[in-house]
Amino acid sequence: MKPVLFLTRRIPEPAIKMLEEKFTLKINPYNLALTHQEIIEGIEDAEALICLLTDNIDKEVISAAPKLKVISSYAVGYNNIDVEYATQLGIAVCNTPGVLTETTADLTWALILASCRRISESERFVRNGNFKGWEPMLMLGLDVYEKTLGIIGMGRIGQAVAKRATGFEMRIIYYNDSSLSQTLAFEAREVTLKTLLQEADIITLHLPLTKETFHLISKEEFALMKESAVLINTSRGAVIEEKELIKALKTKRIFAAGLDVYENEPDIPQELLALENVVLLPHIGSASIETRTKMALLAAENAIAVMEGKEPPAKVN
Ligand code: DGY
Repeated sequence: MKPVLFLTRRIPEPAIKMLEEKFTLKINPYNLALTHQEIIEGIEDAEALICLLTDNIDKEVISAAPKLKVISSYAVGYNNIDVEYATQLGIAVCNTPGVLTETTADLTWALILASCRRISESERFVRNGNFKGWEPMLMLGLDVYEKTLGIIGMGRIGQAVAKRATGFEMRIIYYNDSSLSQTLAFEAREVTLKTLLQEADIITLHLPLTKETFHLISKEEFALMKESAVLINTSRGAVIEEKELIKALKTKRIFAAGLDVYENEPDIPQELLALENVVLLPHIGSASIETRTKMALLAAENAIAVMEGKEPPAKVN
């Protein structure tokens, strides 16, 4: 009999085909995220799990699956999984790094340009019938070309964002909490977080959410930024203290922000929704057809490898 693999949500078909050969699949039949209780009920007889970044895979869920051998997340970030507990029980935790790097870097750039040049606000203006012709002072934004880009977290995605910045002839500064193991393929200066916040025109976050990075950007950090600063977040929402960001945007302490992620997804504070100087996206950093397919295949390969006693391509514990 094939082992049971529980999928908390349908993922792209090529991965389903691959998994069907090895597992009896139990797939969430709804086009909706499962509740915590539904995950607990669904995982009971599973030896493998493929989950989403929105699923809270805590002790309770893991304990509900006595046969579980692998938790394969369809995401690179795994702050939603109790990795420590899984490790104690000998359960492999896997993720999907690498395959989404370029796609997330592209989206980061979409946010940089949209926030600096007020693209969403301008589009709303046109759609609302307000465009009455060219005006000398209409929707004046900020240049990106030759500005200073401050990258917080110079991992795979941070570096892919930086490479794109060289085409804009930007000066690149970065802050990383550990020293980099490889030489960078572009010119960049490592600085302290304080210096980065003071000097960067555009600040972009590429860090995992951990105890250390929770609310890394808060009141004090906003106070250090330039008034013309633009803050971009495609990592995890809680790296920024959202209420302080709202204050900074409302009081024009900074010029704008571009966000793909939020502190309490999918809830976005009404106050943030009401602001014009923020571009808001629905966590679509990796959402291209090609990349989501690659992520699904990698999540499937991870689960299969663990079940076959092989080293999975991307294991985090
Ligand atoms: C991830 O994989 O962690 C991304 O946030 C998905 O878009």
